[in-house]
Amino acid sequence: MIVLGIETSCDETAAAVVDSEHRILANKVLSQLDEHRPYGGVVPEIAARSHMEHLDRLIREALEEAELTFADLDGIAATSGPGLIGGVFVGMMTAKSIAAARKLPFIAVNHLEGHALTARLTEGAEAAAFPYLLLLVSGGHCQLLSVEGVGRYKKLGSTIDDAVGEAFDKTAKMMGLPYPGGPHLERCARNGDPKRFDLPRPMKGRPGCDFSFSGLKTAVRNKIEGLIGRDADPALLSDQDRSDLAASFQAAVGDVLLDRCKKAMDLFESEFGQCGPLVVAGGVAANIALREKLTALCTSRKTELLAPPVALCTDNGAMIAWAGLERLRLGLSDDFATPARPRWPLDQLKGATESDRAS
Ligand code: KG4
Ligand code: ZN
Repeated sequence: MIVLGIETSCDETAAAVVDSEHRILANKVLSQLDEHRPYGGVVPEIAARSHMEHLDRLIREALEEAELTFADLDGIAATSGPGLIGGVFVGMMTAKSIAAARKLPFIAVNHLEGHALTARLTEGAEAAAFPYLLLLVSGGHCQLLSVEGVGRYKKLGSTIDDAVGEAFDKTAKMMGLPYPGGPHLERCARNGDPKRFDLPRPMKGRPGCDFSFSGLKTAVRNKIEGLIGRDADPALLSDQDRSDLAASFQAAVGDVLLDRCKKAMDLFESEFGQCGPLVVAGGVAANIALREKLTALCTSRKTELLAPPVALCTDNGAMIAWAGLERLRLGLSDDFATPARPRWPLDQLKGATESDRAS
């Protein structure tokens, strides 16, 4: 089975082709970062127009790279939400048009399901057999879920304010680092002392698996004001201050994520008799320091951390193609009336039935 996947829900235009042997036959990703950087964040109108301009070419290039034509495909998958609605329209309408013209099934993929199932593409369906525990950490989301099958997710906890990637980006901006701040902050933290600034660990030790990051962000702002004064230009921070702030912030985030994962493992274990494997997905899963902490946690709990390669943790088309393929082989496809959804929680998906799951 071969599926083309299209991703246009945020600021990456992406088209990829995967097959049921877990091969990524092509994976084209065009970042719009340069277009949004002057505004310090993603501008929805610019994003949608840019997807319009580049998507057709990326699809053509993906097929060329895979040495395939539309006639070789078994289905067309596109992100149908959650995300910036203008961009989602572009990807969905393109996918529906190809599917209509070539008489192929169309699969409406939830972007978060794309992240959730990536480990099954990269690590294999045996290593990432259902059920597993998922920590989804991206710019727009921060959730812990039990993944019980395709379309079958149970939310164990989520953020009550900022997503973790958003917290990285906002904190980095306060420190004068370029957009998007996550990777810059991580780089900066490498030379820093994580113990220099005493920062809070919001939600640590609390019952349940929810997250909160806005208090941590405010605490960093207070530390910055203590160093250079209120509303001062962050360029006044010394390199050492910036590195120590970054390291202290990253350590606090890591502690919080670890604490919440421990709680989720306990819940998961009481339901399934095992505490993992733990799959980490989303852009923040590119953070090496965080991966190291999660690996240590999994080792101590005698389970495994499954982390897809960094390039497949950030937004891409291969994850959408793979989620589409997983759905298609269970007989799940969608009609052309399927809407684009700006919001679409993972625990509200159309999923496989019990008998599908057993097969
Ligand atoms: O999954 P993703 O590509 O897009 C969304 O669906 O949100 O995630 C992007 C987010 C951004 O907030 C970015 O700063 C963050 O992931 N990110 C990182 C790192 N690389 C990307 N955060 C921390 N450390 C990193 N190395
Ligand atoms: Zn994403």
